[in-house]
Amino acid sequence: MYYVYLLWFLLFGLCPIFVPDSIPIGMFRTECHDRHFWLSVNSNFLGHKFRFDVQADSEVHEVSGQWAAECGYTMAFDSWGDLLLRVSYLACLVENQRETEFRLMVWFINQDSNGEEKSYPLLLICPLQVPWGPRELVCEQNYIEELGEGLREWRVVFRIPAPSQEGGIREETVPVRMAHLLGYHINTTDSRILLRCAYGSKLAYTQQWGETDVEVVSATILYKIKWTLLTVDMSVACTMSQARMDGSDVLWSLPRDLPTLVHLPFIEKGLKLGVGGQYLSECVAHQRGYMIHNNNRTLEIRIPFGAEGGFIKSHVIDGLYSQSYFVDVFLLREWEDTAWSLTQQRTFRALFIYHLPRPVTLINKTVPSQREFSISLCCFPHDVSLGNVTVAGQPVLWEEMERNGVRLSQNPFPNNTYMYLFQMPFSHPLISQTYLGDRFRKYTLYGVFSFIMFPDGEIYNYSATVEAKLQDVVLPKLEGDCTIQGVRTLAYYGNIDSSEWSLYVGGMKLDWELVELGGFSLDPHELYLSLEIPLYAPGMAYEGLGLQGLLVSVLVSLVHLETAEEQTHVQRCVFPVKELLVCLPDGRMVVMIDTAGVSPPVNPNHTALLDPACRPLETDNSRAIFSFSIDSCGTVATHDGDQVIYRNEVRNVPPFPPHLRPLSQPQPRYRVPLGCVHPENGNRTLSIYLPSHSPTLLPMKHTHTHSHTRHPEGKGKEQTIHSQDNNPNRACHILVFAYFAFYQVIYELTEVLL
Ligand SMILES: *[C@@H]1O[C@H](CO)[C@@H](O)[C@H](O)[C@H]1NC(C)=O
Ligand SMILES: *[C@@H]1O[C@H](CO)[C@@H](O)[C@H](O)[C@H]1NC(C)=O
Ligand SMILES: *[C@@H]1O[C@H](CO)[C@@H](O)[C@H](O)[C@H]1NC(C)=O
Ligand SMILES: *[C@@H]1O[C@H](CO)[C@@H](O)[C@H](O)[C@H]1NC(C)=O
Ligand SMILES: *[C@@H]1O[C@H](CO)[C@@H](O)[C@H](O)[C@H]1NC(C)=O
Ligand SMILES: *[C@@H]1O[C@H](CO)[C@@H](O)[C@H](O)[C@H]1NC(C)=O
Ligand SMILES: *[C@@H]1O[C@H](CO)[C@@H](O)[C@H](O)[C@H]1NC(C)=O
Ligand SMILES: *[C@@H]1O[C@H](CO)[C@@H](O)[C@H](O)[C@H]1NC(C)=O
Repeated sequence: MYYVYLLWFLLFGLCPIFVPDSIPIGMFRTECHDRHFWLSVNSNFLGHKFRFDVQADSEVHEVSGQWAAECGYTMAFDSWGDLLLRVSYLACLVENQRETEFRLMVWFINQDSNGEEKSYPLLLICPLQVPWGPRELVCEQNYIEELGEGLREWRVVFRIPAPSQEGGIREETVPVRMAHLLGYHINTTDSRILLRCAYGSKLAYTQQWGETDVEVVSATILYKIKWTLLTVDMSVACTMSQARMDGSDVLWSLPRDLPTLVHLPFIEKGLKLGVGGQYLSECVAHQRGYMIHNNNRTLEIRIPFGAEGGFIKSHVIDGLYSQSYFVDVFLLREWEDTAWSLTQQRTFRALFIYHLPRPVTLINKTVPSQREFSISLCCFPHDVSLGNVTVAGQPVLWEEMERNGVRLSQNPFPNNTYMYLFQMPFSHPLISQTYLGDRFRKYTLYGVFSFIMFPDGEIYNYSATVEAKLQDVVLPKLEGDCTIQGVRTLAYYGNIDSSEWSLYVGGMKLDWELVELGGFSLDPHELYLSLEIPLYAPGMAYEGLGLQGLLVSVLVSLVHLETAEEQTHVQRCVFPVKELLVCLPDGRMVVMIDTAGVSPPVNPNHTALLDPACRPLETDNSRAIFSFSIDSCGTVATHDGDQVIYRNEVRNVPPFPPHLRPLSQPQPRYRVPLGCVHPENGNRTLSIYLPSHSPTLLPMKHTHTHSHTRHPEGKGKEQTIHSQDNNPNRACHILVFAYFAFYQVIYELTEVLL
């Protein structure tokens, strides 16, 4: 049971030293602990300067420095920044009422920035709750205290290690007055002897114990009762070890059997751990993950970094998120040894770990089929909050988040930390997409999460790149049809960026130059792009000539820039023609002539080439089609520079059966000259000649060279036309020329001759 008295009043009868101010509610907390008064002042209340003064009768002392250490006062900030004052019940100026109740008058003096002081008087009254043990030791932050049972002091014998001396120990006996001068507070109460000194006092020494340093004061007090000289061992030893990280734990280890204190063999009687001034029950300690471990001769206290009971402070160090952790522990150990029936040792220690890098954990909860990124970032204490999120270099504006389907939530954990959950749809414009082929698409979130540390406002940027793959691509689709002027292709966009695809027409990349050159018409619609290629334009391939017309094909392909994945479509169209001459690279000539309008009429059935045995392949009422090789049917080759001109002609032949043919061949009255020009050496190209009245032999257009690479894959559509080509799968690009000039000339001549 604790009794806490927090009083403020005017001390009538005593001269008040300060004018007391009224005590603000909630700013002071006092508690009675086992062996000390405990007073804390809220950090928000602390002024520009502040101090504690303690008063007994008319004596007033400021709590500070060596005086505080020697007199049993400890002033410190706790992890939360509150000011703490711990005062031993046996401290100087404490009113000791038969060792069962202790009173202390404390003034808290707070000075604001104008130098104005306010004084708050606090009378602390604590009853003794835990009876005194035969021997008690206190290892405070600033002093060591030893309480032995006893009466009046006389002399003190200090023992100090002296390797050069016999026995390795030097003894120094000093009168109590002298000990006082050396910084040792030695006094008695009704029933006890007290020794207290600051750390590092003269005649104290440090001893290495395992890995830790232990500060030792080895002293015996000699005193007289009546005529008997009695001695009491007043040795005290405190471990100086600090905490260190061991895995994810803060580890504080200290020797179990402190030198000069423990007189072996000894029996452990009790061990209690407290944090922040409160003992921890085993259950709470377990819950928080605290552990006490007897490891051989060392006592190991493990506290998970960041565990409740301590205080976390976030920082950004060299661009990395890190945390400092502070935890005020105290430890009560009790044992029995050969010298003392019971020893109690209380140790107070502020453990701290500074600037431990704490990598932020990204938990990728993305389920691709849900079509959104879902990531959590963890775990943050409450002095960190997410400021901004930048995706692909663009800030994600809070006010637009909901509209764009972006969600952010903060989820707390029982251990006083929390995580952020960030969700962003794949379809968000800031999510980048990459087509991987086979209809797979990769979505990537390039995010920078800016966290703000409070209260300093430091910023920590956490960059995260998260990907997800999904087979959700609708590929572009090609369709085609025939128009009056040419071939039209429709390229349906699909659902990936159309700029990732290149369009090829007949193996040539479609660019503005080609569009202009070929007179293509390009027309974007909502769902597709329409491309119309006029007849005889580049990109159009010759497939055959028949009475139905000229069969051409257009191969259009879409090639993905990254994956080279290809979509192709071949559209075949037949265009009615009346007359046409085709010179094929394989050395064949295919010609369609039309006798309509010739006077007197010529029956197309009665026509032949220079070799009269070469008859039309097909005829109708007025037209005849011939297909022959340049080394047959009487074709005449004439060499002209590096070119060879192959000439033949279509003539009318008498309708007589061969065996009835008259001896003298009548002069044909109908002659259509034909000619193909091929290079003397080198590859032949395909050319198509249209009838023309212009007396020119030169190619009219399309002087560009073809890189003729692609062929239609499938044989595809049934050809309703009779192909004149030996290899129907091989389409050649069309080169169109004006018809041979001889046409007109010879025709006219014939007329004259007749
Ligand atoms: C010793 O204790 C007595 C009362 O118990 C007190 O009056 C005296 O001032 C103390 N001496 C020192 C040196 O603190
Ligand atoms: C216990 O400690 C002693 C001395 O420090 C050492 O010699 C011994 O090996 C240790 N035993 C174990 C099990 O660690
Ligand atoms: C707090 O709890 C979360 C979730 O259980 C865990 O991931 C995290 O490491 C814990 N943090 C600390 C400091 O214990
Ligand atoms: C967040 O963005 C705003 C405006 O772009 C900027 O003023 C602010 O400093 C940013 N905060 C952080 C933590 O980056
Ligand atoms: C954090 O990231 C934001 C956005 O990318 C940037 O503007 C800011 O300068 C960065 N801050 C730090 C401290 O790196
Ligand atoms: C995140 O999750 C997705 C989907 O489960 C997975 O494809 C991806 O590899 C994960 N990791 C990262 C860093 O993106
Ligand atoms: C040409 O001959 C075929 C059969 O030999 C015949 O069917 C057709 O009618 C003839 N055409 C003309 C215009 O005489
Ligand atoms: C002729 O065509 C072949 C195969 O298509 C090619 O390898 C060769 O280079 C061409 N020759 C000329 C002179 O263009």
